[in-house]
Amino acid sequence: MAASDLYLDYHGFMLPRASHSEESLKYLENFQVKDDDVFGITYPKSGTTWMQEILPPLLNGGDLTAVETVPNWDRVPWLEEIRSGLVLDKLPSPRAIVSHIQYHLMPSSFFKSKAKVIYVTRNPKDALVSSFHFHKMASFLEDPGTLEEFTDKFLSGKVLFGKWTDHVKSWRNPELGDRIMFITYEEMLQDLHDALRRMLRFLGRELSAEALDRVVNQCTFKNMKSNKMSNYSMVPQDYMDNKKSAFLRKGVAGDWKNHFSPELDAKFTAVIQEEMKGTNIRFPWDEK
Ligand code: A3P
Repeated sequence: MAASDLYLDYHGFMLPRASHSEESLKYLENFQVKDDDVFGITYPKSGTTWMQEILPPLLNGGDLTAVETVPNWDRVPWLEEIRSGLVLDKLPSPRAIVSHIQYHLMPSSFFKSKAKVIYVTRNPKDALVSSFHFHKMASFLEDPGTLEEFTDKFLSGKVLFGKWTDHVKSWRNPELGDRIMFITYEEMLQDLHDALRRMLRFLGRELSAEALDRVVNQCTFKNMKSNKMSNYSMVPQDYMDNKKSAFLRKGVAGDWKNHFSPELDAKFTAVIQEEMKGTNIRFPWDEK
């Protein structure tokens, strides 16, 4: 299928038609953000589904009912997707919402609100590898070609939601002040207890030690992989083929090392470093 049949062009960004429409993007633009809304913002394949598991129990005193009974896309909808218009207005507050869009495309009501944002960044090499496998299992996305070909698209921004570097930079906007918390996928992997304690503090919420343990346990890769409400097993196989590659695939840091040749690594690193030059944004995975 031609790329134009698969993707919508929204302000120069490629969005899959399978889950986005002109109407859903109008809904996004007119969306009325509430002060107690909480946004989990990610570049694709950086921990969105994880945030859809984490946020509801953090916001409702550790209750796991929603994550056990409601599919992730209805529990914590994507602001820009078609499902949003159907479910978001019915969600009780405080609402948790995810989005892949860049800062300047947020609805105008967001800028006037006090809504908080947790921005999760993942090593772009691992986000790329995860996306590469996702493109192989999702029939509504273009075939990724070889990893080298897909890397060229990734580096030039001809992938879903544009360039990784633009996304990361757009959300480092001083206007947000203390409304935004930054965390990495890798920090969450290393110590999920600590990551969730930081999120709770940021959100001004508390959980008992036992409740926090329960939430952490629910949100481990292993348990999410067996949670029907989060592992995409309810999606028809001709749409997402979990046999080709599971949506919750490996859940590790550094899988890029099993995929990148030294040449690809050098090229990727040089482009990202060049585009991050002049910013003071540093990540644990940055080369010295
Ligand atoms: P991999 O393909 O590297 O396994 P998103 O939800 O933004 O699309 O990101 C998907 C990636 O997050 C996948 O990466 C998936 O396995 C990983 N992921 C989801 N939940 C996770 C968890 N609880 N622990 C670790 N990784 C998780």
